[in-house]
Amino acid sequence: MTSPTPKRLFIKTYGCQMNVYDSQRMAEAMAADGYVLTEDQAQADMVLLNTCHIREKAAEKLYSDLGRLKPLKAERPDLKIGVAGCVAQAEGEEITRRMPLVDLVVGPQAYHRLPAMARGEAPAVVTEFPAEDKFDHLPARAATRRTPTAFLTVQEGCDKFCAFCVVPYTRGAEVSRPAPRILTEARDLVARGVREITLLGQNVNGWHGEGADGREWGLGRLIRALAEIDGLDRIRYATSHPNDMADDLIEAHGAEPKLMPYLHLPVQSGSDRVLKAMNRKHTAEQYLRLIDRIRAARPDILLTSDFIAGFPGETDDDHRATLDLIERVGFATAFSFKYSPRPGTPAADRAEVEPSVADARLHELQALLSRQQREAQESMVGREVGVLFEKPGREPGQMVGKSDYLHSVFVDAPQAKVGDLVRVRILASAPNSLQGQLLQ
Ligand code: 5AD
Ligand code: SF4
Repeated sequence: MTSPTPKRLFIKTYGCQMNVYDSQRMAEAMAADGYVLTEDQAQADMVLLNTCHIREKAAEKLYSDLGRLKPLKAERPDLKIGVAGCVAQAEGEEITRRMPLVDLVVGPQAYHRLPAMARGEAPAVVTEFPAEDKFDHLPARAATRRTPTAFLTVQEGCDKFCAFCVVPYTRGAEVSRPAPRILTEARDLVARGVREITLLGQNVNGWHGEGADGREWGLGRLIRALAEIDGLDRIRYATSHPNDMADDLIEAHGAEPKLMPYLHLPVQSGSDRVLKAMNRKHTAEQYLRLIDRIRAARPDILLTSDFIAGFPGETDDDHRATLDLIERVGFATAFSFKYSPRPGTPAADRAEVEPSVADARLHELQALLSRQQREAQESMVGREVGVLFEKPGREPGQMVGKSDYLHSVFVDAPQAKVGDLVRVRILASAPNSLQGQLLQ
């Protein structure tokens, strides 16, 4: 079903890295139907918004972006407008009711049906959870992009049901992709020049599956198998739940040099009372002990986290317990959010913290976390790190890439090319990046 003239597809991605990966896979699926990607929305034959539902603001952004598409659609009624992602899953037909300019709505588990939907050969709204792996029905990774880093989804969905979170409803139950498929996809990416792979999952460290040896593998074992691929130099994974940090995964951080010394391990709060109300199923002390074990395995690891300010019932004491936990761990960066009630989640009906109080707490969290971020960056000065060049920098002869610790590093390297993995001495720290010097 390839059409003679290429059609142009514009994709806007909101939210997490999982969506970035999904957008790439949808672009590849549509490429088989003759669509090429465009950066210019005004030129597009199809506009696809890959949405995020995690907080209220994220969902509202979709509706304001759709509103802004009205003049374009009025001018060119044949323009196809699609909504994908978690808002599509959560709101379904409500989207076409509220925004009649939308032609199709596709949930995250139904992306393999997108080409048929765009051709008008499938319903306009598909939000079912099929039994099969959607990736089986998506074309193999296309050879279009030449970047040294790639995402690879290994797990989707979440069974944790934190009281504030929509993910178990939008992305469904935890499903792990089979190890052989993941290894094949990784080898494929490496054959195309990828040197760093970030394994993705809403609960990525909950990944499990049957390995080549017929045994049940966890993420630590999968990482060791991936590390055997020649040409794959760096492995990362996100996002993890503290309760799924298995021993073999912690060990892998100590034993596997390709596994980068950086871990995003959200804790959300430092108060046991709030953690319980959030249904996190661990205490602050358990989290701190886990951090100790991870640091024992890999002393230089940098840790990051997510925090929610103003969860229903949170008191000043609870908030202070969170600040205290942050002080005790020392994070390299962290994301903090004001609690946002999400319809359908258990916490949505609970009495909310006064907005001005929640704002003040968020502010305090952010101030402390940015201080820690500055300190973590400054502590890199003078150290030697690996840097994988991802693109040319702003200045002539300059390259920019990520350090082992995921900092952006600018380096003068006129002879270097994208994809080079080099040793660098860190010279200086700027607010959001580091500056380094090439070592021979
Ligand atoms: N309100 C505020 N923050 C939320 N998060 C998830 N749901 C909510 C919510 N309802 C945050 C959590 C999670 C991150 C991805 O988003 O901190 O780890
Ligand atoms: Fe947003 Fe969560 Fe969906 Fe990712 S999984 S797009 S963070 S709602």
